[in-house]
Amino acid sequence: MPDILIPEKMQGAAVDALCSRFDVVYEPELWKEPGQLREKIKDFRALIVRNQTAVDATLISAAQQLLVIGRAGVGLDNVDVKHAEHAGMVVTFTPDQNAISVAELAIGMMLSLARMIPAADQDTKNGNWNRHRFMGMELYGKTLGIVGAGKIGYLTARRAQAFGMRIIAYDPFLSPDNILLSDLPAELVELDDLLARADIVSCHLPSTKQTQGLLNETSFRKMKGGAFFINTSRGKVVSEVGLVNVLKAGVIAGAALDVRNTEPPPAGELESLPNVILTPHIAAFTVEAQNRVTTAICEDVARVLDGLPAINAVGAALPRGKVTP
Ligand code: MLT
Repeated sequence: MPDILIPEKMQGAAVDALCSRFDVVYEPELWKEPGQLREKIKDFRALIVRNQTAVDATLISAAQQLLVIGRAGVGLDNVDVKHAEHAGMVVTFTPDQNAISVAELAIGMMLSLARMIPAADQDTKNGNWNRHRFMGMELYGKTLGIVGAGKIGYLTARRAQAFGMRIIAYDPFLSPDNILLSDLPAELVELDDLLARADIVSCHLPSTKQTQGLLNETSFRKMKGGAFFINTSRGKVVSEVGLVNVLKAGVIAGAALDVRNTEPPPAGELESLPNVILTPHIAAFTVEAQNRVTTAICEDVARVLDGLPAINAVGAALPRGKVTP
């Protein structure tokens, strides 16, 4: 029986180490063919995915031998965790391993928006020398609104403090005496208050039923005139139609998005707006983060196949009611 199926692009020393111990089938394009994937998964004991494979109820039900699902990343929106746990499988992920890289991209986007770096670069390469056209804004003394004050939100805020920014944060799951907040320090506020006060709003939310569409036209219209919006978390928490409307109406000054409602996105209006910066979900794509992510997920999957509890299990750390090695 083969051991581990990897249906998305994933390489590196940790994957090589896994291949030396287990029978690993690496088919980086297989995620695009759900029918074939469903057929193939039947015999495997482990599955490792990034964010493109839909690990839904249908796939899980077909995976009769599966002991463990490894999600190389922090977002679990492409994995039906409840169904997997019900089927006795371990779901493991990498909760912190790419957090620094995501926070660094959020800071990069703040600077890019505030100083119009991509537009100035393009304009200069077009043969122009328009110094006065690119009058920017300092981050110093400005208010950063962090929506979702988990690890990534916290690391982003810490870095923004080095620029002399004031931090306010909205997180319904965080109590005002949370250690992250006392360490910052940041003021915990309601979402509407944050939107009204922040010069830059940076979104760090998971995609859940409660968060999907949370940042919509109504909320964007509550933002300060001249403010910027950044999303490096999950595309579905934002209404792109609402964002386009407020950008076109000049309600806010600009936006930077690393994540989209649909990935890859169909061509749309966001692509043609000059005050929008778009990147293709690269927040976690640094050499360092990917080394940490692949090492952690490969090691945890190997642990489960060796009969040991997973370190970063979302729920149960050992498979239930299944034949272990
Ligand atoms: C994550 O969830 O870890 C990042 O967004 C990257 C990814 O989805 O793989």
